[in-house]
Amino acid sequence: MQVLYVSTEVYPALKTGGLADVNAALPPALIRLGADVRLLLPAFPALLKAAGQLERVAKLDTVFGTAPVEISRGTLDGVPAYFIVAPEFYARRGNPYTDAKGQDWPDNHLRFALLGWVAARFADSAFDGWRPDIVHSHDWHAGLAPAYLAARGGDRPGSVFTVHNLSYQGQFPAETFGALHLPPHFFGLQGLEFYGKVNFIKAGLHYADRITTVSPTYAREIQTPQQGCGMEGLLRSRAGALTGILNGVDPQEWNPASDPRIPARYDAGHLEGKAVCKTALQTGLGLGLNAAGPLFGAVSRLTTQKGLDLLLGALPRLTAGGGQLALLGAGDADLEQGFRAAAAAHPRAVAVRIGYDEDRAHRIVAGADVMVVPSRFEPCGLTQMYGLAYGTLPLVRRVGGLADTVTDAAVPEGDGFVFEETNVAALGAALERVFSVWREPHIWAALRRQAMRADFGWEPSARRYLDLYRGLRPHA
Ligand code: ADP
Ligand code: GLC
Repeated sequence: MQVLYVSTEVYPALKTGGLADVNAALPPALIRLGADVRLLLPAFPALLKAAGQLERVAKLDTVFGTAPVEISRGTLDGVPAYFIVAPEFYARRGNPYTDAKGQDWPDNHLRFALLGWVAARFADSAFDGWRPDIVHSHDWHAGLAPAYLAARGGDRPGSVFTVHNLSYQGQFPAETFGALHLPPHFFGLQGLEFYGKVNFIKAGLHYADRITTVSPTYAREIQTPQQGCGMEGLLRSRAGALTGILNGVDPQEWNPASDPRIPARYDAGHLEGKAVCKTALQTGLGLGLNAAGPLFGAVSRLTTQKGLDLLLGALPRLTAGGGQLALLGAGDADLEQGFRAAAAAHPRAVAVRIGYDEDRAHRIVAGADVMVVPSRFEPCGLTQMYGLAYGTLPLVRRVGGLADTVTDAAVPEGDGFVFEETNVAALGAALERVFSVWREPHIWAALRRQAMRADFGWEPSARRYLDLYRGLRPHA
């Protein structure tokens, strides 16, 4: 089974969120199952740096008014990867999607159209004598790959489109459509047009042979007006082609028994190291060492999705109960400012670090007692699973992948705390439940044992992707 895996970011070379973690772990898991998976990525500088020596396999004229682009082959952590070397599009400061000030690049429609267009060119065996059976593209950035394949028609690879986050859609003015060089009728209701605009994620949802998203619950939720971001009708009409496949945890990166980034290693049978991690975290952040309540941790983008405004609102209750908070994140200016102010007001109870810091993320997951993820919506979510692996009980809202991965302490197989409503009072009530269990150390220990038993290995999920590919191309 030959699979072209089309995306934009891969941990550790380039990461803005969980997509990079998934892109680093799923392709190797598929390769271990015998698939020939190769990445296709824009040649962003950080990726090129990580890829080392490259070999040019093709040079082609594009339809996007660029100089001819090169397709080069290399590897990323041992996984074969093709890079689209188009410096005028990709050799820029900032992250893959925005400039250093956080503004979308004005030519994003062309930058990511090129990604989907090159993916479809692989169907012509244009590069390296290698033709994929399946083109598997991810999120709006790669959403045009299924459209270019559909436009090509004939004997083409099967297309799979995975939604990691439906709320980022890649919408552009109608005038940009001409520059995409797709058949005119693609700009319609039965195509990639959405309320008069070009919509890249809709292209993926409409044209892909199969759609997946990253948890079973999110797969259901996005078929409703509440979570469908306007795509619910289309998704309902394609329900037969849509599945939810849960993300996994990469044990090479997130395992308290071997994690080199934390001050002491531990496992479920030897938890002394976890206590060392907690003290080190408190000391490192200037938090008090004798708090009566648990230490809550959060590692997150600070956006509406993540519901951390609820946590900010519930902070008085968290500190009144003797709890502490260690938060690492970056994003909305209001939230950054709000958390900074809370830390300044309660320096022994609340520590906030604004920015992106992989080492600190691991130290928080290991050192905290509770991982807080109060998301409004969450396609899968990874930090609650990291919390489980590290015996740091997740406190989550019952939504999306959070609902699929955390079981409330109220039932015998519980391994965390789950609340329902999206408001400060509901989170506050959940905090009180955390405090009351905290006062019963043997119950806490039992929950922690259960949490550390949870197994979110990638293999079962990789098998499900492989089954999906085989369903589309049984003879590959
Ligand atoms: P999303 O992709 O929506 O941001 P996920 O929970 O799937 O959410 O993945 C987030 C990933 O990004 C996790 O690996 C988490 O540890 C990491 N992360 C988020 N914010 C930060 C930060 N400020 N510093 C370091 N890592 C972060
Ligand atoms: C998105 C989602 C997150 C998911 C991640 C990886 O960023 O917001 O829930 O875990 O993609 O699939």
